[in-house]
Amino acid sequence: MHITTLNNMTIEELQSVLSAAKKFAEGKQWELEQQMFIANLFYENSTRTKLSFEVAEQKLGFKILNVDVHTSSVQKGESLYDTVKTLEAIGVDAVVIRHPEENYFKTLIENINIPIINGGDGCGNHPTQSLLDLYTIFEHFNRFTNLNVVICGDLRHSRVARSNAEVLTRLGATVSYSGPEKWFDHTLPKGEFLTMDEAVKHADVLMLLRIQEERHQQANNEKDTSYLEQYGLTVERERKMKQNSIIMHPAPVNRGFEIADELVECHRSKIFRQMSNGVFVRMAVLKFALQNGKV
Ligand code: CP
Repeated sequence: MHITTLNNMTIEELQSVLSAAKKFAEGKQWELEQQMFIANLFYENSTRTKLSFEVAEQKLGFKILNVDVHTSSVQKGESLYDTVKTLEAIGVDAVVIRHPEENYFKTLIENINIPIINGGDGCGNHPTQSLLDLYTIFEHFNRFTNLNVVICGDLRHSRVARSNAEVLTRLGATVSYSGPEKWFDHTLPKGEFLTMDEAVKHADVLMLLRIQEERHQQANNEKDTSYLEQYGLTVERERKMKQNSIIMHPAPVNRGFEIADELVECHRSKIFRQMSNGVFVRMAVLKFALQNGKV
């Protein structure tokens, strides 16, 4: 079963992945009945997604193929489709792909017969990041309903914003947005637009996003210190947050831009917890994909 976006997963399927992740976090094992191979195929840079998939794969006992696109036949012009078809032909059981093109998987899903797990497609989706975010939110609040989630920052270029806004709305949270208006994206699910001063008072979950300069059309100097004062989480703003509210960020973090350096590891911050949870969530995703929706 392919995991390309969360849009086509039911609430029950989402819950079953989260609950399998919890069991893995509690030490549950999944014994593979035979040797299985997972390929990690990353056309874009990654630290967390790539390495936490690799830890998850190792914990589950898979044989791992880390495809280096810089030394593979991708450099001779081999297409994504032919690369993945090759992995399938040589006996790979599932492939984790990150690619800069939004919806790259649409060209694959018809004719590729092994699960494709989307590790991020351009500005499109990042389903495993969303799942680990859901896990982290549920771990803290034990619910999604009646939570105010404010997604803040570079909304237009964020696959995390898109995946999370859709799934959190579906799960009963109220999603709002904050950040520079020029980065607001009208294709995101409907939500109120708040200033950062309003957002900090309103949010149960304040989800900050990285300024993704690599996706901006023109080089600009948005990433200057005035961004933090205008749109970011300063120490003064953090003091106005609700008592039990949390700070999230998919990372990598631009310390001192979207969030003050000293808040990255403050008592409210779940940023490194999100990364730890990501390993268990990715173990659950691999099991779900390889067992065709059963965990
Ligand atoms: N959050 C996230 O996707 O990080 P990486 O780009 O390092 O994988």
